[in-house]
Amino acid sequence: MSASPTAKQQPLLAGHWYVIASPHQLRSKPLALERFGERLVLWRQQSGQIVAMPDQCVHRGAQLSGGHIDNDTIVCPFHGFAYDASGQCTVMPCEESWQIPSGFKLQTYTVCEAGDWIWLWRGPETGSLPPPPVEPLLEGLVYGELCDDWNAHYTRAIEVQIDYAHLPFVHKKSIGRFMQGNSFDVGTDLSSGTIKSWLNNHKKGSQQWAAIHYPNTWINSVGGKFYIQAVFIPVAQQRCHVIMRFHHPVKIPLIRQLVSWFGTQLGRKVIKEDRPVVQGQFPANSDDANEKLTPADAGIVGYRKLRRSHQAQLKAEIKPQ
Ligand code: FES
Ligand SMILES: [Fe+2]
Repeated sequence: MSASPTAKQQPLLAGHWYVIASPHQLRSKPLALERFGERLVLWRQQSGQIVAMPDQCVHRGAQLSGGHIDNDTIVCPFHGFAYDASGQCTVMPCEESWQIPSGFKLQTYTVCEAGDWIWLWRGPETGSLPPPPVEPLLEGLVYGELCDDWNAHYTRAIEVQIDYAHLPFVHKKSIGRFMQGNSFDVGTDLSSGTIKSWLNNHKKGSQQWAAIHYPNTWINSVGGKFYIQAVFIPVAQQRCHVIMRFHHPVKIPLIRQLVSWFGTQLGRKVIKEDRPVVQGQFPANSDDANEKLTPADAGIVGYRKLRRSHQAQLKAEIKPQ
Protein backbone atom coordinates (compact mmCIF):
# COMPACT_ATOMS: atom_id res chain seq x y z
CA MET A 1 0.00 0.00 0.00
CA SER A 2 1.09 3.59 -0.25
CA ALA A 3 0.67 6.26 2.40
CA SER A 4 1.10 10.01 2.40
CA PRO A 5 4.29 10.96 4.26
CA THR A 6 3.11 14.31 5.50
CA ALA A 7 2.16 14.12 9.15
CA LYS A 8 4.49 15.73 11.65
CA GLN A 9 3.07 13.97 14.65
CA GLN A 10 0.55 11.20 14.94
CA PRO A 11 -1.99 10.61 17.66
CA LEU A 12 -1.01 7.55 19.63
CA LEU A 13 -3.08 4.85 18.02
CA ALA A 14 -3.36 1.18 18.73
CA GLY A 15 -0.82 0.19 16.10
CA HIS A 16 2.22 1.86 14.60
CA TRP A 17 4.45 2.21 11.60
CA TYR A 18 7.92 0.91 12.43
CA VAL A 19 10.94 1.73 10.33
CA ILE A 20 12.30 -1.70 9.35
CA ALA A 21 15.01 -0.87 6.80
CA SER A 22 16.71 1.76 4.69
CA PRO A 23 15.68 1.72 1.00
CA HIS A 24 19.40 1.53 0.17
CA GLN A 25 19.32 -2.08 1.41
CA LEU A 26 16.67 -3.14 -1.12
CA ARG A 27 18.11 -3.35 -4.62
CA SER A 28 16.99 -5.57 -7.49
CA LYS A 29 17.29 -8.81 -5.52
CA PRO A 30 14.98 -10.01 -2.71
CA LEU A 31 16.14 -8.85 0.72
CA ALA A 32 16.14 -11.20 3.73
CA LEU A 33 15.45 -9.47 7.05
CA GLU A 34 14.82 -10.67 10.57
CA ARG A 35 12.32 -8.34 12.23
CA PHE A 36 10.09 -8.75 15.32
CA GLY A 37 11.49 -12.25 15.74
CA GLU A 38 10.29 -13.31 12.28
CA ARG A 39 12.10 -13.99 9.02
CA LEU A 40 10.83 -11.66 6.29
CA VAL A 41 11.61 -11.20 2.64
CA LEU A 42 11.20 -7.82 0.91
CA TRP A 43 11.11 -7.34 -2.83
CA ARG A 44 10.04 -4.69 -5.31
CA GLN A 45 7.43 -4.90 -8.03
CA GLN A 46 8.15 -3.25 -11.38
CA SER A 47 6.13 -0.23 -10.19
CA GLY A 48 8.60 0.22 -7.32
CA GLN A 49 6.05 -0.86 -4.69
CA ILE A 50 7.58 -2.98 -1.96
CA VAL A 51 6.17 -6.37 -0.99
CA ALA A 52 6.91 -7.95 2.41
CA MET A 53 6.08 -11.56 3.28
CA PRO A 54 7.41 -14.40 5.44
CA ASP A 55 10.72 -15.67 4.11
CA GLN A 56 9.38 -19.21 4.00
CA CYS A 57 7.83 -20.99 1.04
CA VAL A 58 4.52 -22.71 1.88
CA HIS A 59 5.65 -25.80 -0.06
CA ARG A 60 8.74 -27.08 1.75
CA GLY A 61 9.86 -24.11 3.82
CA ALA A 62 12.73 -22.84 1.68
CA GLN A 63 13.84 -19.22 2.02
CA LEU A 64 12.30 -17.17 -0.76
CA SER A 65 15.03 -14.56 -0.35
CA GLY A 66 17.37 -17.06 -2.03
CA GLY A 67 15.17 -16.98 -5.13
CA HIS A 68 14.62 -14.34 -7.78
CA ILE A 69 12.00 -11.88 -9.01
CA ASP A 70 10.23 -12.63 -12.27
CA ASN A 71 7.40 -10.57 -13.76
CA ASP A 72 6.15 -9.20 -10.42
CA THR A 73 6.42 -12.54 -8.64
CA ILE A 74 9.05 -13.95 -6.32
CA VAL A 75 10.25 -17.40 -7.37
CA CYS A 76 11.31 -19.97 -4.78
CA PRO A 77 14.81 -21.37 -5.39
CA PHE A 78 13.81 -24.92 -4.35
CA HIS A 79 11.06 -26.07 -6.77
CA GLY A 80 10.22 -22.85 -8.60
CA PHE A 81 6.85 -21.96 -7.05
CA ALA A 82 6.12 -18.28 -7.73
CA TYR A 83 4.16 -15.90 -5.49
CA ASP A 84 2.55 -12.63 -6.53
CA ALA A 85 2.31 -9.42 -4.48
CA SER A 86 -0.83 -10.68 -2.73
CA GLY A 87 1.09 -13.75 -1.56
CA GLN A 88 -0.84 -16.12 -3.84
CA CYS A 89 1.11 -18.92 -5.50
CA THR A 90 0.59 -18.46 -9.24
CA VAL A 91 3.14 -20.85 -10.74
CA MET A 92 3.78 -24.46 -9.70
CA PRO A 93 6.13 -26.11 -12.22
CA CYS A 94 5.77 -29.65 -10.82
CA GLU A 95 1.96 -29.62 -11.23
CA GLU A 96 1.32 -27.95 -14.56
CA SER A 97 -2.16 -29.41 -15.06
CA TRP A 98 -3.28 -28.54 -11.52
CA GLN A 99 -5.62 -25.74 -10.55
CA ILE A 100 -3.46 -24.19 -7.81
CA PRO A 101 -5.45 -24.37 -4.55
CA SER A 102 -6.08 -20.97 -2.92
CA GLY A 103 -4.46 -22.26 0.28
CA PHE A 104 -1.07 -22.06 -1.41
CA LYS A 105 -0.78 -18.51 -0.21
CA LEU A 106 1.57 -16.51 1.98
CA GLN A 107 0.50 -13.78 4.35
CA THR A 108 1.74 -10.32 3.30
CA TYR A 109 2.62 -7.37 5.52
CA THR A 110 1.59 -3.76 5.00
CA VAL A 111 4.68 -1.76 4.09
CA CYS A 112 5.40 1.60 2.53
CA GLU A 113 8.30 3.84 1.64
CA ALA A 114 8.32 7.38 3.01
CA GLY A 115 10.91 9.91 4.18
CA ASP A 116 13.61 7.66 2.71
CA TRP A 117 12.73 4.78 5.03
CA ILE A 118 10.86 1.50 4.63
CA TRP A 119 8.04 1.22 7.18
CA LEU A 120 5.99 -1.78 8.27
CA TRP A 121 2.58 -1.42 9.90
CA ARG A 122 2.23 -3.42 13.06
CA GLY A 123 -1.22 -3.47 14.53
CA PRO A 124 -4.86 -3.91 13.59
CA GLU A 125 -5.69 -3.01 9.99
CA THR A 126 -9.26 -1.88 10.36
CA GLY A 127 -10.11 1.38 8.59
CA SER A 128 -7.58 3.65 6.94
CA LEU A 129 -4.11 3.77 8.42
CA PRO A 130 -2.39 7.01 9.49
CA PRO A 131 0.69 8.09 7.52
CA PRO A 132 4.07 7.12 8.98
CA PRO A 133 5.69 9.75 11.25
CA VAL A 134 8.10 11.21 8.70
CA GLU A 135 10.29 14.01 10.07
CA PRO A 136 9.55 17.21 8.07
CA LEU A 137 12.66 19.03 9.37
CA LEU A 138 14.85 16.81 7.22
CA GLU A 139 13.21 17.69 3.93
CA GLY A 140 15.74 18.99 1.40
CA LEU A 141 18.78 17.96 3.44
CA VAL A 142 21.37 15.37 2.41
CA TYR A 143 22.83 12.69 4.65
CA GLY A 144 25.49 10.10 5.28
CA GLU A 145 24.35 6.77 6.74
CA LEU A 146 25.82 4.05 8.93
CA CYS A 147 24.41 0.97 10.61
CA ASP A 148 25.23 -1.31 13.50
CA ASP A 149 23.83 -4.43 15.21
CA TRP A 150 23.30 -4.44 18.96
CA ASN A 151 22.60 -7.40 21.22
CA ALA A 152 20.04 -5.34 23.08
CA HIS A 153 16.28 -4.90 23.14
CA TYR A 154 15.38 -1.83 21.09
CA THR A 155 13.73 -0.14 24.08
CA ARG A 156 17.12 0.07 25.81
CA ALA A 157 18.80 1.31 22.64
CA ILE A 158 16.29 4.12 22.15
CA GLU A 159 16.22 5.14 25.81
CA VAL A 160 19.94 5.88 25.86
CA GLN A 161 19.35 8.52 23.19
CA ILE A 162 17.40 10.67 25.65
CA ASP A 163 19.60 9.90 28.65
CA TYR A 164 21.58 13.13 29.20
CA ALA A 165 23.33 12.02 32.38
CA HIS A 166 25.33 9.34 30.56
CA LEU A 167 27.07 11.84 28.27
CA PRO A 168 30.02 12.84 30.51
CA PHE A 169 30.66 9.20 31.39
CA VAL A 170 30.03 6.99 28.36
CA HIS A 171 31.05 9.73 25.93
CA LYS A 172 33.83 11.36 27.94
CA LYS A 173 36.15 11.13 24.93
CA SER A 174 33.67 12.44 22.38
CA ILE A 175 30.41 14.39 22.66
CA GLY A 176 30.43 14.42 26.48
CA ARG A 177 33.97 15.79 26.80
CA PHE A 178 32.88 19.27 27.87
CA MET A 179 30.08 18.09 30.14
CA GLN A 180 32.25 16.81 32.96
CA GLY A 181 30.87 17.80 36.36
CA ASN A 182 27.58 19.02 34.89
CA SER A 183 24.24 18.51 36.54
CA PHE A 184 21.32 18.19 34.16
CA ASP A 185 18.07 20.11 34.27
CA VAL A 186 16.09 18.18 31.66
CA GLY A 187 13.00 19.66 30.05
CA THR A 188 10.51 17.39 28.29
CA ASP A 189 7.44 17.73 26.14
CA LEU A 190 5.13 14.82 25.44
CA SER A 191 2.68 15.30 22.66
CA SER A 192 0.87 12.84 20.44
CA GLY A 193 3.45 10.12 20.04
CA THR A 194 6.57 12.27 20.44
CA ILE A 195 8.86 12.70 23.45
CA LYS A 196 11.03 15.79 23.08
CA SER A 197 13.74 16.62 25.60
CA TRP A 198 16.41 19.28 26.04
CA LEU A 199 18.71 20.75 28.68
CA ASN A 200 17.42 23.87 30.43
CA ASN A 201 20.80 24.64 31.97
CA HIS A 202 22.87 24.42 28.80
CA LYS A 203 23.67 27.49 26.74
CA LYS A 204 22.55 25.80 23.53
CA GLY A 205 19.67 23.96 25.18
CA SER A 206 16.98 25.49 23.01
CA GLN A 207 18.73 24.52 19.75
CA GLN A 208 20.02 21.15 20.82
CA TRP A 209 17.05 18.97 21.55
CA ALA A 210 16.36 15.29 21.00
CA ALA A 211 13.02 13.66 20.24
CA ILE A 212 11.70 10.13 19.93
CA HIS A 213 8.89 9.70 17.44
CA TYR A 214 7.16 6.67 18.85
CA PRO A 215 7.79 3.82 18.31
CA ASN A 216 11.32 3.62 16.90
CA THR A 217 12.76 6.78 15.33
CA TRP A 218 14.86 9.43 17.03
CA ILE A 219 16.15 12.83 15.95
CA ASN A 220 18.70 15.14 17.52
CA SER A 221 18.97 18.78 16.52
CA VAL A 222 22.61 19.78 16.85
CA GLY A 223 22.16 23.38 15.68
CA GLY A 224 21.26 25.10 12.41
CA LYS A 225 20.17 22.63 9.76
CA PHE A 226 22.31 19.84 11.16
CA TYR A 227 20.51 16.81 12.56
CA ILE A 228 21.34 13.29 13.62
CA GLN A 229 18.59 10.78 13.01
CA ALA A 230 18.57 7.17 14.13
CA VAL A 231 16.17 4.26 13.99
CA PHE A 232 16.19 1.34 16.39
CA ILE A 233 14.70 -1.65 14.64
CA PRO A 234 13.44 -4.67 16.62
CA VAL A 235 15.12 -7.82 15.29
CA ALA A 236 14.43 -10.28 18.10
CA GLN A 237 13.95 -10.13 21.85
CA GLN A 238 17.52 -9.08 22.60
CA ARG A 239 18.70 -7.81 19.25
CA CYS A 240 18.14 -4.63 17.33
CA HIS A 241 19.49 -3.05 14.17
CA VAL A 242 20.56 0.58 14.42
CA ILE A 243 20.68 2.88 11.39
CA MET A 244 22.04 6.38 11.94
CA ARG A 245 22.07 9.29 9.50
CA PHE A 246 23.89 12.60 9.72
CA HIS A 247 21.75 15.18 7.88
CA HIS A 248 23.14 18.50 6.70
CA PRO A 249 22.47 21.22 4.10
CA VAL A 250 25.88 21.17 2.32
CA LYS A 251 25.31 20.21 -1.31
CA ILE A 252 28.58 21.32 -2.94
CA PRO A 253 30.20 18.18 -4.42
CA LEU A 254 33.17 16.84 -2.44
CA ILE A 255 32.43 19.13 0.53
CA ARG A 256 29.08 17.38 0.81
CA GLN A 257 30.81 13.98 0.92
CA LEU A 258 33.37 15.30 3.39
CA VAL A 259 30.70 16.63 5.78
CA SER A 260 28.72 13.36 5.48
CA TRP A 261 31.88 11.37 6.14
CA PHE A 262 32.81 13.45 9.18
CA GLY A 263 29.28 13.18 10.60
CA THR A 264 29.11 9.42 10.14
CA GLN A 265 32.58 8.91 11.62
CA LEU A 266 31.52 10.80 14.74
CA GLY A 267 28.25 8.83 14.83
CA ARG A 268 30.16 5.57 14.55
CA LYS A 269 32.35 6.52 17.49
CA VAL A 270 29.38 7.56 19.63
CA ILE A 271 27.30 4.41 19.05
CA LYS A 272 30.37 2.26 19.61
CA GLU A 273 30.68 3.91 23.03
CA ASP A 274 26.98 3.33 23.82
CA ARG A 275 26.76 -0.26 22.62
CA PRO A 276 28.60 -2.20 25.40
CA VAL A 277 26.82 -0.32 28.18
CA VAL A 278 23.37 -0.81 26.65
CA GLN A 279 24.03 -4.47 25.83
CA GLY A 280 24.88 -5.06 29.48
CA GLN A 281 21.70 -3.52 30.92
CA PHE A 282 19.41 -5.82 32.86
CA PRO A 283 16.62 -6.62 32.39
CA ALA A 284 17.01 -6.56 28.62
CA ASN A 285 13.56 -5.12 27.90
CA SER A 286 12.96 -1.82 29.67
CA ASP A 287 9.29 -2.83 30.12
CA ASP A 288 10.51 -5.23 32.80
CA ALA A 289 12.69 -2.65 34.56
CA ASN A 290 12.16 -1.77 38.19
CA GLU A 291 14.59 1.13 38.44
CA LYS A 292 15.17 4.18 40.64
CA LEU A 293 14.98 7.05 38.16
CA THR A 294 15.89 10.69 38.91
CA PRO A 295 14.64 14.02 37.47
CA ALA A 296 17.47 13.88 34.90
CA ASP A 297 15.76 10.76 33.50
CA ALA A 298 12.66 12.76 32.56
CA GLY A 299 12.87 11.77 28.88
CA ILE A 300 13.02 8.08 29.77
CA VAL A 301 10.08 8.46 32.12
CA GLY A 302 8.13 10.07 29.26
CA TYR A 303 9.03 7.32 26.82
CA ARG A 304 7.97 4.60 29.24
CA LYS A 305 4.72 6.38 29.96
CA LEU A 306 3.92 6.53 26.26
CA ARG A 307 4.89 2.90 25.80
CA ARG A 308 2.69 1.77 28.68
CA SER A 309 -0.29 3.64 27.29
CA HIS A 310 0.36 2.11 23.86
CA GLN A 311 0.51 -1.37 25.30
CA ALA A 312 -2.68 -0.81 27.26
CA GLN A 313 -4.45 0.18 24.04
CA LEU A 314 -3.15 -2.78 22.14
CA LYS A 315 -4.33 -5.15 24.88
CA ALA A 316 -4.29 -8.64 23.47
CA GLU A 317 -4.59 -7.58 19.82
CA ILE A 318 -0.88 -7.88 19.12
CA LYS A 319 2.11 -8.40 21.33
CA PRO A 320 4.53 -5.42 21.14
CA GLN A 321 8.14 -6.43 20.58
S1 FES B 1 10.09 -25.20 -1.09
FE1 FES B 1 9.59 -23.55 -2.34
S2 FES B 1 8.93 -24.43 -4.16
FE2 FES B 1 9.34 -26.12 -2.90
FE1 LIG C 1 25.09 7.74 24.15
